[in-house]
Amino acid sequence: MLSGIEVAHRSLGGVFSVPTGSGPWALSVGQSLRVSRSLFSFNLSVVGVGWAFCFFAAQTPILQTETPNVHNSLTCAACGLAHDADQLQNLCNECGKPLLVGYDLAAIKDSFTPDAVRNRSVRSMWRFHDVLPVDDAAGAVSLGEGSTPLLKCRPVGAAAAFENLFVKDEAFNPTGSFKARGMSAAITRAVALGAKKVALPSAGNAAGAATYYAARAGIECYLFMPEDTPPANIVEAAVGGAKVFLVNGLISDCGKLVKQGCERFGWFDLSTLKEPFRIEGKKTMGYELAFDMADAAGSTKLQLPDVIFYPTGGGTGLIGMWKAFDEMQQLGWIGEERPRMVVVQAENCAPVVRAFEQGATHAEMFPNASTKAAGLRVPAAIGDFLMLNVLKESGGTAVTVSDDDLLDGVREFAGEQGIYLCPETGAVWKAALKLLESGWLKPSERIVLFNTGSGLKYNHLFPPNNLPLLDHNDPNVIDQIES
Ligand SMILES: Cc1ncc(COP(=O)(O)O)c(C=O)c1O
Ligand SMILES: [Zn+2]
Repeated sequence: MLSGIEVAHRSLGGVFSVPTGSGPWALSVGQSLRVSRSLFSFNLSVVGVGWAFCFFAAQTPILQTETPNVHNSLTCAACGLAHDADQLQNLCNECGKPLLVGYDLAAIKDSFTPDAVRNRSVRSMWRFHDVLPVDDAAGAVSLGEGSTPLLKCRPVGAAAAFENLFVKDEAFNPTGSFKARGMSAAITRAVALGAKKVALPSAGNAAGAATYYAARAGIECYLFMPEDTPPANIVEAAVGGAKVFLVNGLISDCGKLVKQGCERFGWFDLSTLKEPFRIEGKKTMGYELAFDMADAAGSTKLQLPDVIFYPTGGGTGLIGMWKAFDEMQQLGWIGEERPRMVVVQAENCAPVVRAFEQGATHAEMFPNASTKAAGLRVPAAIGDFLMLNVLKESGGTAVTVSDDDLLDGVREFAGEQGIYLCPETGAVWKAALKLLESGWLKPSERIVLFNTGSGLKYNHLFPPNNLPLLDHNDPNVIDQIES
């Protein structure tokens, strides 16, 4: 049931519900207000803009369109201003903050059920197409992303202290990282709305993902990468035909060049959170996890873990999963329960951890940011306020890990669990140990560590030293081996 004023506008494709003092999802077409567990701090002063818009819209003839089974609103996460969902959009036109996608969840509630999802033959994140930006899964730019395994850890070594420790292994994705999910969704939508050239800065896995989804879609991809980006990420992008530019600076410097290029050449900016659909792709990790946890419990009832550990740079996955949980609750798939979310960052690049510790609502730029975990080298994130909100709402926490420790974590997990983690998740593993030791985690809790990418992209960090070299011509060479 709609509360507040209802208006319709041709370009926005439907009815807007404009309740007073609401969060942005309340502006979704035909979607009822939900305020209790919102991601957002909604700036009431800008509500006036929304009201003015609605007044204007109400003067036009009312066009009651049939509710489309796709997303139907784009709303600023900070000020709540609605944007045209049928056009390429980047940040909020009013306040420059990220836009979030809304759906008419009430309209799809009866058809989009856990059983319906289970019965689908699509083996990718697009089995959740109802809450993604397409009419049906066949319209997606897809390489088979998502549907990654949830692996229970063996009770050996340090992991033996946990009774229910899981890894959601995103290394199984095309291009070897979870960035595939976001790029699949973003490029699907960008191409549908006419983009022919996309651009982004990347210090890691986003580069490869953007390259290969752009190639799959037949569009051009311009990449700006810090010159010290891991070689595997650079090579992967160059081989895939992206126009790669190395930059003698940080990812934030690369971002400035992308902005200039977009203005001059009309590229569509795919930077983290600067377009709305990478979050949508990454939120599918949250949807999948509810199914994975049910399977792990031998139940058909969707369920979430007690704690989720997320290696955090720009925070797209963290924000996306939180959004997914909210949508699932609106769909009636889960209740009010939520996992405690844990942000993990590197000791020398920890803007969100520092802001969390200070109780701030926004994060300051982290000076002289450096870490070998390239995906965590994000000194300032535009979605900082959303991440801090997730931490607060979930009763979560934020932890740093040193570079030595996170590399050690990769080695330890590889040998004990048979999983070659990316260094970002090496940090996550060490953070979980810290929080168990401090008592913040209980051994019996169901804990999920996100392995966001394959360790194979980071071979340069683990040069094998002192490996024996055998002379196969020596008839007694086997004597040198102890077994
Ligand atoms: C392997 C890996 N983990 C984590 C991150 C951080 O992800 P997010 O930007 O969603 O916080 C990145 C980003 O590049 C990454 O490549
Ligand atoms: Zn805004």
